[in-house]
Amino acid sequence: MEEASQNTETVKKVFIQTYGCQMNEYDSNRIFDTVKKIGLITQVAEEADVLLLNTCSIREKAQEKVFHQLGRWKRWKDDKPNLVIGVGGCVASQEGDAIRRRAPYVDLIFGPQTLHRPEMLKKVSRGQKIIQTKRHARQKVRNFIPEYAFQQTQHHGIKAHLAITKGCNNHCSFCVVPFTRGRERSRDPKSILEEIGVLFGKAFLIILGENVNSYKANGVDFVELLHRLDELENLQRLRFISPHPKDFHEELADAFVTLPSLCEQMHLPLQSGSDRILRRMRRWYTMETFYEKVAMLRDRLPEATISTDLIVGFPGETEEEFEMTMEAVRTIRFDLIYSFKYSTRPGTRAAEYPEHLAEDEKSKRLQILLETQGKIVQEKNEALVGSIQEVLVQGKHYRKNSITGRTRGNHSVHIDDSCAIAGDLLSVRITGALQNSLEAEIISTSTVLS
Ligand code: 5AD
Ligand code: SF4
Repeated sequence: MEEASQNTETVKKVFIQTYGCQMNEYDSNRIFDTVKKIGLITQVAEEADVLLLNTCSIREKAQEKVFHQLGRWKRWKDDKPNLVIGVGGCVASQEGDAIRRRAPYVDLIFGPQTLHRPEMLKKVSRGQKIIQTKRHARQKVRNFIPEYAFQQTQHHGIKAHLAITKGCNNHCSFCVVPFTRGRERSRDPKSILEEIGVLFGKAFLIILGENVNSYKANGVDFVELLHRLDELENLQRLRFISPHPKDFHEELADAFVTLPSLCEQMHLPLQSGSDRILRRMRRWYTMETFYEKVAMLRDRLPEATISTDLIVGFPGETEEEFEMTMEAVRTIRFDLIYSFKYSTRPGTRAAEYPEHLAEDEKSKRLQILLETQGKIVQEKNEALVGSIQEVLVQGKHYRKNSITGRTRGNHSVHIDDSCAIAGDLLSVRITGALQNSLEAEIISTSTVLS
């Protein structure tokens, strides 16, 4: 348990459960910082006085998980009436009214923008209810980025996340993010570098933004920021998520070659292989331009890995249009895909489109996609057997005497060895290919973190 940094009249124990993306994990770390000003952080939910849920509403399934968890906590509150329950993040922002209706016992509802306010937690701890809801699903939230560097109290280990933009102006027709997180804001480069000071010594940095590569603040653009970060002492690896293909250009492709820390791995969300569906999704690129972007990277770095996001069963997607997505998957041969069934989100344009597909048709398409991709990954992993890779060790694997780490291309690697520790940089030979990971033997070791 962490100690409160300032005394308050009643020190509460606070437990935070995080759902969703890496941005949400980052936000929870910021909430931890806030909590430290007024109370104690506990990892044990059962002993907490305040239970906070940091939520995700990107798809309906993620949202339903929130209500299940609240149901569980409600039973605890029946036995312990002073227990404070709070819901923050995207579901809180988008579904505040639904939470009020379905879970009236919730004491605190706050959007992703207000998570840094300690006075809010103080008030609810004194028995006051604070409910911040929107008047309607399309109402935009006011976005801003707390510019102070925070302490990342929970941030142990070799890896750190850092948010450089927040919010999104793109308004893809399926996506709720612009409504939950508001308009895009880029953080002042000074405050980014200040936060880096707090993270000093991390070997591995992942920079985050809903639309990370459109970063621009005080005359510094995304590529310039990458250059500044690459100069950090000790930094071995730099990655970024999630970029938009429309902002991927020659200068960014060049950065993958010129910046030693920038890993040869790119996430480039395609969403669909059909130009008509891409238009209806409001993605602002065609398959032709997407292929050009893939070539921009592969022409420079043939070994670079590329991952993507795909949505199947978007409203009106015909069999032929789904086949175009399959064609793109077979042609590009992504190293990893995150694939989703289209999920209707309130307030979005696509929710109002006609011709929504039946759930079982979406499931069928997803299954076909996953099977094809599974074969591609297996073939690509087998092609890596015998190659030499650099692996950054992340820790012990659940298998005895085995450690796990990642290649620069982001492949998960298991190595039978009990000596290497998190932060070691290994040169390895790949000896085996499994479905979602690789096996390897060590050639040499260097320690990047003591
Ligand atoms: N339905 C299904 N998938 C979605 N995504 C975003 N919104 C939806 C939705 N309504 C997926 C997109 C995005 C990823 C983060 O989540 O593929 O890139
Ligand atoms: Fe959502 Fe599109 Fe913005 Fe990504 S770019 S957060 S999918 S609106």
